Amino acid sequence: MRVLGIETSCDETGVAVYDTAAVPGTGQVAAGAGGLRAHAVYSQIALHAEYGGVVPELASRDHVRKLLPLIRQTLAEAGMTASDLDGVAYTAGPGLAGALLVGAGTARALAWALDVPAVAVHHMEGHLLAPLMEDDPPQAPFVALLVSGGHTQLVAVEAIGRYRLLGETLDDAAGEAFDKTAKLMGLPYPGGPQLAALAEQGTAGAYRFARPMTDRPGLDFSFSGLKTQVLLAWQQSDRSARTRADIARGFEDAVVDTLAIKCERALDAAGCDVLVVAGGVGANTRLRARLQAMCAQRGGRACFPRPSLCTDNGAMIAFAGALRLEAGQREDAQVKIAPRWDMAALPPLAAAPRAGAGGPE
Ligand code: KG4
Ligand code: ZN
Repeated sequence: MRVLGIETSCDETGVAVYDTAAVPGTGQVAAGAGGLRAHAVYSQIALHAEYGGVVPELASRDHVRKLLPLIRQTLAEAGMTASDLDGVAYTAGPGLAGALLVGAGTARALAWALDVPAVAVHHMEGHLLAPLMEDDPPQAPFVALLVSGGHTQLVAVEAIGRYRLLGETLDDAAGEAFDKTAKLMGLPYPGGPQLAALAEQGTAGAYRFARPMTDRPGLDFSFSGLKTQVLLAWQQSDRSARTRADIARGFEDAVVDTLAIKCERALDAAGCDVLVVAGGVGANTRLRARLQAMCAQRGGRACFPRPSLCTDNGAMIAFAGALRLEAGQREDAQVKIAPRWDMAALPPLAAAPRAGAGGPE
């Protein structure tokens, strides 16, 4: 099955084609890197940079401009035409309503014109399943750490589509904390990756910040106090380039440590040793190394998508959509979006196919 994936939930236009037939010996639940025929991402970072954050209306308009050319480009790279497609998957939520509507409308129109099914994909399920596109994919049950600009969640994955929330952030998401911290030290939007690069030049231990909520039981996170600690440290410092790097390192170490401590607790709570990490912050090198070491020590492993599939992309949507379409999930021919959508409300993959199943309410 060749599935076109469309992602337009925020400030990246992502398009991909995932072909389940290109993956040998995987049966119904396809996985592995071989299935990805082509993927392309157009980032709107430059558009939003001067505002210091995403401007929803500008995001929607730019998706309108970029989506069709990107679909044409991706199909050409896959050596295919639209008539080769067997299904269309699109991000229906969570995300910015106007931006989601661009992808949903385009996907539905395309599916209707081609007379193929379309499926609404949950953005965070896309992130969560992205590591399964890599070679030697993990099998459920496992624990997933979802760390993006909008979410920080620990999820027990009992099966694909069966998700139980173990813990989440009470305020800022991890990526949001990276971005806000970078901004207060004068780094341009989006600061997360830049802050991480700067931290590489900093001295470990020169600044030590709290590991929030690790001194008490529980799996929830809170990152906004950490940001305030950094603000105070920065204001009281000499604001030199060296100090900025040292503070960046202190901040990154605090976030990485906090995430690792909670992941270990979540693995203990779920009684398993396999951790799947996804979302933009999953591209962070120090976080990857730390979680890999922690899991290896317990005789398990940490699984990540390649860094380009950690941040928003169409491949994860094509893949998640392909799994659901292959399992027989079908929806009514309506343009439905769900800017707020609880992942626990998703139907398990093995659910009996029926019209209207699985889409956002
Ligand atoms: O998953 P994503 O692309 O979009 C959302 O769904 O939010 O995640 C973007 C977030 C941003 O906050 C960005 O600063 C952060 O991921 N990010 C990073 C790194 N690369 C992206 N944070 C820390 N280190 C990185 N290397
Ligand atoms: Zn995302």
